Amino acid sequence: MKSVFVSLLASGAYAFPWVADVPGVESPWSRFANNRRLEARQQSSGGSCPFNANHKPANPITSQYPYNSAKNGISGKGKGGFQVPAKGDTAHQFVAPGPNDIRGPCPGLNAAANHNFLAHDGITTFNELVDAQQNVYNVGYDLATLLAALGLTLTDGDIVTEKLSIGCDATSRTSFSPALTGFEADSSLTRNDYFTHNGDDYSFNGTLFGMMDKTCGSNFDIKGLSLYRKQRYDQSQAENPNFYFGPLSVLLYRAASFLYELMPSGTNGYKPDLATISTFFGAKKNDDGTWGYTAEKIPDDWTNRVSPYTNNDVTTQILEMYLLNPVLFGGNTADGKFDTIDFGAIKDGKISAGISATDTSCLLYQLATQSVPSSLNGLITPTVKALAFIATKLSPSFKNLGCPLPLT
Ligand code: HEM
Ligand SMILES: *[C@@H]1O[C@H](CO)[C@@H](O)[C@H](O)[C@H]1NC(C)=O
Repeated sequence: MKSVFVSLLASGAYAFPWVADVPGVESPWSRFANNRRLEARQQSSGGSCPFNANHKPANPITSQYPYNSAKNGISGKGKGGFQVPAKGDTAHQFVAPGPNDIRGPCPGLNAAANHNFLAHDGITTFNELVDAQQNVYNVGYDLATLLAALGLTLTDGDIVTEKLSIGCDATSRTSFSPALTGFEADSSLTRNDYFTHNGDDYSFNGTLFGMMDKTCGSNFDIKGLSLYRKQRYDQSQAENPNFYFGPLSVLLYRAASFLYELMPSGTNGYKPDLATISTFFGAKKNDDGTWGYTAEKIPDDWTNRVSPYTNNDVTTQILEMYLLNPVLFGGNTADGKFDTIDFGAIKDGKISAGISATDTSCLLYQLATQSVPSSLNGLITPTVKALAFIATKLSPSFKNLGCPLPLT
């Protein structure tokens, strides 16, 4: 296995400087102040992750309530505009999470688990993730598999069982550390930075939700969210000495696009308004105007988007949102400076306006298949097994785009 990996390195598939981050080798990575975070994370998450001895998988879709007919990780019909959960489908009604259920930083997955489209205890699988994204949100098959692959490879997900926790480290059930929080980034919409809040980068923060609402003027469109992303970037850079906005932060723009692309309802003119967004985020307004937390829920009488949300669509949105308020990729360094990074389409800390959609798509693919410098553990390196697994799922579509393929 090791020699396969070494030959991958030699072939240049991992052509960026952090690959030198091995014991005894000084790498550019060590300039960043936050190299030691993984150790702290492993210590702080120990023992407190809920455990459900009686794991039940997601409730399957049926011929009576077929949704997008996405089953067993394969492509569904890709035709949305239907109600979720369907009238009369008691198997997918909202059930609040209990003390043994794991929830994490992703409102989209938390809501899907609360409606049993993913296992209610939050220990899910690659196939459940691919199916639920199609059946609930009408995410295109290409993007659904890419996101599920990111979930597995970026978190050291267990490729043997294809299992992954949507929140904290559930190692005892998934064999090795596949916690989704492994790739939580600084300056999220409604989640704290890891470093400034004692490792809690996954809980909903009502103050941040209120800030987002105010900046967006209760209309969570691309303009408002782009501005809010920039505000969060500035805030984190100022407050967090270990601030790191690496390649994976591209995913923050992706997630922000979900508010106006995946969450709005046809029964509400597909408006990304406060009622819709607060319901998905589990945000509840208190009497004094501040925001508290309940549980993530699909709004009543909700119908999903009509056309599938594809890789192409999401990369267009990522680029557009970034370019409305561009920021530098990089991180605060130990000596109080800010260093920029290069990775794929990111050059000198920037994604330039001239980049093609194809190059941006390849960037997402590279995040799932290459070693990525990360704020939490220095470098996330997908295992050879993980790469072999996702090569079978992803490579055909990305090969057509001309992206560098790690395993061919
Ligand atoms: C397999 C599929 C998915 C995976 C593995 C995943 C994973 C994640 C992770 C790790 C984060 C935290 C990122 C960060 O803040 O640093 C996140 C955030 C987010 N996700 Fe997902 N996600 C998936 C699908 C979805 C879908 C389908 C939706 C849409 C409904 C969604 C909506 C969001 C939103 C809105 C955020 C930002 C939350 C915030 O910053 O407050 N996700 N997701
Ligand atoms: C929520 O976010 C605000 C703004 O960044 C921060 O000051 C506060 O400490 C956070 N609250 C919690 C409970 O983490």
